This record gives sequence, structure tokens and C-alpha cells, in this order.
Amino acid sequence: MKIQLNENKVLFNNGESLQEIHPFWLRERVDGDEFLDKGTQQRLFDPSTMNGEIIIKKAQIKNGFLEVDFNDGVNSKLDITKLESEFSNKDTVIKSIPKKKWDSTLKNIKNFEYKEGFFESKEMYDLLISFYEFGFVVIKNVPTENNYIVKFANSIGSVRRTNFGEHFNVKSKSNPNDLAYTTLHLSPHTDNPYRNPVPCIQLLHCIENEVKGGFSTLVDGYTVTENLKKDNPEFYKILSEVKVRFKFTDKSVMLEDWSELIHLDDNKEFKQVRFSPRLDYVPMLEKNKLDLYYKARKKLSDLYNSEKNRIEFKLAPKDLMMMDNYRVLHGRTKFDPSEGKRFLQGCYIDFDSTEGKLRHLKRKLNL
Ligand SMILES: [Fe+2]
Repeated sequence: MKIQLNENKVLFNNGESLQEIHPFWLRERVDGDEFLDKGTQQRLFDPSTMNGEIIIKKAQIKNGFLEVDFNDGVNSKLDITKLESEFSNKDTVIKSIPKKKWDSTLKNIKNFEYKEGFFESKEMYDLLISFYEFGFVVIKNVPTENNYIVKFANSIGSVRRTNFGEHFNVKSKSNPNDLAYTTLHLSPHTDNPYRNPVPCIQLLHCIENEVKGGFSTLVDGYTVTENLKKDNPEFYKILSEVKVRFKFTDKSVMLEDWSELIHLDDNKEFKQVRFSPRLDYVPMLEKNKLDLYYKARKKLSDLYNSEKNRIEFKLAPKDLMMMDNYRVLHGRTKFDPSEGKRFLQGCYIDFDSTEGKLRHLKRKLNL
């Protein structure tokens, strides 16, 4: 057990040293009926308004519970396992799923099969784990009627509406406001880098695909940029330091956001890539710096566009692909519309949807 007592002090043993747990930290966690709403797990009192001078008058450990009497007259039995789970400030559900690097050699990735009760099933849990490992997942046999993609998105979490609508139809049309709505080859890109925040996850649902071309392509931005860090550290450094402007304009909106092409977190680890070379504008920098930037972007573009890094496959009707838009780049090969119909529907959800669902299923299925 990591919790120990020394008279009325509650101590935390981390294996190397003993530290006293602040009495107020424990007082905030009292969970009797008058202090905690059992349904919502929300507090019925406001610790931010309380005097912090809380002292423990008496503490004892009994049958896995810490029983504490505080000097303000409150006493509580605290579940020790629950307290101990809070000692680590690391996310134990999402961040603990290791990202698996992949390139064109990726084979036999598991596809999932939609069926009745799918969203509350172990299959859904496995799907989400696979999504966090690889950054994408394909689900077969998803109904296509009545824009089912929106229902699908809302059954994981909530659809993220944009100015393209709740969902968008990907088929070639005249006067398109985006090249997605043409028959052209689309090189690997991430979607909507000009939004704040950028939509986290794209769902793409194949309704019809009668053409010979129109293959879907995916590239793992995580693998590519980790390799760049190793092989060309100077390029990696400048691409993760210089913020560029992304913009989108049509007649009703002007969207703009700034970011590095390789965005790192506070620990200088991978967080997000944005890549959409029709939409990026690097600011005016010293000529030498821009020299390096342009070389680095060219290298990154070569890697993203290299066959070595790309997987290519054809989506069949009822296939729904879910991609991490912060990690995986997507594209498609060109197609000839005279061969038949090609119709996909897309929409976005954010990470709160997949994270919320995964935590819920883990709790529900006791995993
Ligand atoms: Fe796209």
C-alpha cells in the first residue's frame, strides 16, 4: 500500500521517499452523500471558497479505507485505491496507448465490422485502441442511408459542424470551393489546417465507388516526422519552430490560423502535423532561414509523397474510414468520372468524442 500513517499525518510512499499528503487535498475528496452527488460525481461543496487551514484530527486505515476526522467537524471514509489512482498525473487511458509507426509495408491491419449494438460493444473498444495505435481505422458494412455518417459520428461522440456543413458530400462538381470536389489526384494532406482548432478526426464514408481509380491514400505523419528528426535534425527543428499561416476564403468566410508544420507538445514530443501546401504561407524571414525552411519543407513533402511511406487501398461501398487528422495525411488517386459514380461523405469529430467513448467503455466493460 502506498498510503501510510504517522500519527495524524497521512503519508504517501512512492517507493523511494515518504511525502506528507496535504490535509486539504484529502478534505477536497470527502465523498459522503452530503459532499458528493453520486450520480454526476460532482461536488456538492465548493473547496475554492473554503479556508485552507484544514488539520487532520484523527486518521486510521481500515479494510482498504482511510478514515479521517478533520478539524472542521467533517469526517469521511476514503477509498484508498481511488486515492492512489490519483497519485500519477499521467493520463492512464489514452496516452498509455503506444503509437505504432507504419509505412507502406503495413499489412493485415484489422478491419472492423459494423453490427447491431456496435457503439457499446467490445468491438468498439478494440476499434478505438486500434485507432490510437495506428491513427486510422476502417469499419465495414456501415449503413449508407439518410446520411448515416452523422448518426455514426454522434454515436461515438458529437459531430463537429463546420462551414462545409454537418457533413459534406465528396463528389466532383462544377465551380468547386475545394479541390476535393474535383476528379483530380489529391496529394497527402491534412484537412482544414486553417481552423482554430483544427478538426481532430475525419470520418469518410464510401457510398458509391464504381470508378477504376479513386484509391484512398494514407501516410503516417508521426512515422515520417520521427524519421526526419533522426535523419535530418536541422530540417525537423526549423519545421517545428516556424509558424506559418494557413488560410481559406470563399464568398462567405475567411478562415486563418498559424502553426508549425510539425507541432510539438510541452515535452517536445509529437503533437500534430499540418500539411496542405496549397494553403500555407510562411512569413518573411531572413533569407538564410527561409533557405533552410524551403529545403526542409521540400524534404518533408518528398517524404509525405514517397511511395515508401504511403498505403493505398480502395474503399468499397459501406466502408467507413476514421482518420486522426492531427497525425495521418490522406489523399486519393485521380479517377475518370465517365467510368461511373464515386460518392463519399465526410464529417468531423473531435478527440473528446473518442476519448470519452473509450473511457466509458473501459469503465463499463471493466477492462
Ligand atoms: Fe481532405
